Amino acid sequence: MIIANDSQDHTFVLARAAEIPGFDTAIRPAHERAMQFAHFDIDHFLRHHWQKRPLLIPNPWASWHNPLEPDELAGLACDDDVESRLVIGDGAQRQMESGPFAENRFAELAAGPWTLLVQAVDHYVPDVAALLQPFRFVPDWRIDDVMVSYASAGGGVGSHYDQYDVFLVQGLGQRRWRVGPLCDAQTPLLPHPDLRLIADFEASDEWVLGPGDILYVPPRYAHEGVAVGDDCMTYSIGFRAPSRAELVDGWCEDLAERMVEEDRYVDPDLERQACPGEITPAAIARLHGLVTQALADREAFARWFGAHNSMPKYDGDWRPDTPIGAATVRANLANGMTLARNPASRFVFMRQPQCHWLFVDGKRFDCESALAEQLCASSEITLDPKVAASAETHTVIAALIDQGSLAFIDDD
Ligand code: SIN
Ligand code: CO
Repeated sequence: MIIANDSQDHTFVLARAAEIPGFDTAIRPAHERAMQFAHFDIDHFLRHHWQKRPLLIPNPWASWHNPLEPDELAGLACDDDVESRLVIGDGAQRQMESGPFAENRFAELAAGPWTLLVQAVDHYVPDVAALLQPFRFVPDWRIDDVMVSYASAGGGVGSHYDQYDVFLVQGLGQRRWRVGPLCDAQTPLLPHPDLRLIADFEASDEWVLGPGDILYVPPRYAHEGVAVGDDCMTYSIGFRAPSRAELVDGWCEDLAERMVEEDRYVDPDLERQACPGEITPAAIARLHGLVTQALADREAFARWFGAHNSMPKYDGDWRPDTPIGAATVRANLANGMTLARNPASRFVFMRQPQCHWLFVDGKRFDCESALAEQLCASSEITLDPKVAASAETHTVIAALIDQGSLAFIDDD
């Protein structure tokens, strides 16, 4: 279908999700999509910029190619399972609409600036997922997803700050980025029902990025990107860092669920006190101890955090209709078949004295270190013959396939 947007001199030929190469299957050899840096001093970056100050990284790629067409992005924004937003206008007059969008929505847009933003595109498009690979100098558990934006001339989401680090990779066209001071909850915002726009944004740096250029912005730095000309596409490689509130809330909820009614305050040594109305320091110390002793269990915390961190943000359901069974897994692995990870799934492991804890999509598997490490190393896995022959491997892989986190690559 052709969606003409004459006022913008732009025509989207919407690609339905199923027409995007590899959409929802992610089953293509990784080497076809590899993206690598040719010039980027990662150690220098980590020492001087990561979580410290912004950095413009002029096209560092061995060979940059834009991994997604604007039409494909527009097609994703029409899909019910994909989270997307349209921000129309500029200044405080910007209006936000949430997707999914009707196929004719883009054709209806009046002349003027607008931008379309689509979340977690790496979950749906393997070539966009491949963009994450060079950023794995940051551990996987800190990586969130790739948001992709497309803007007409002058389009952008306005001046704002994020709580997370972001690498803004310019895919197509040009965008002017202005970066300003560190912000916090006291930073004045413009009144707006949907957007958190900074009121008096004064930039200290300004750059125009072209295809392949990258801007790194640490958490809480004010920034604003405005498309210079039409056909401006930007890939935001986003990270996550749990807030203390999220950790306390999640960990306490997990602990509390496993506690029994009988586990409560006791005072067999109670003595009469001068003022019955007083909660004494001794009572407070005992109450506080009840809480802090439970919270101090580091091993239980690690188990909870691994499961919590590996919970998928969006559901890219790969669950098979019928369970695969360990025997089929054994036969497929004996034939040298390769496994693909669901791009929406999260794989992380923790070392333990006797085994590794492998966490996938909120579930823990206690397994051989080699198996956990190979499953966490890349999105496509051909297991070592020794690991592939182990009965424990067959059980773990069958469970991962049944829960929709893994699939065998079908060469046909
Ligand atoms: C954009 O791509 O327009 C917004 C990205 C950001 O500011 O984080
Ligand atoms: Co931002």
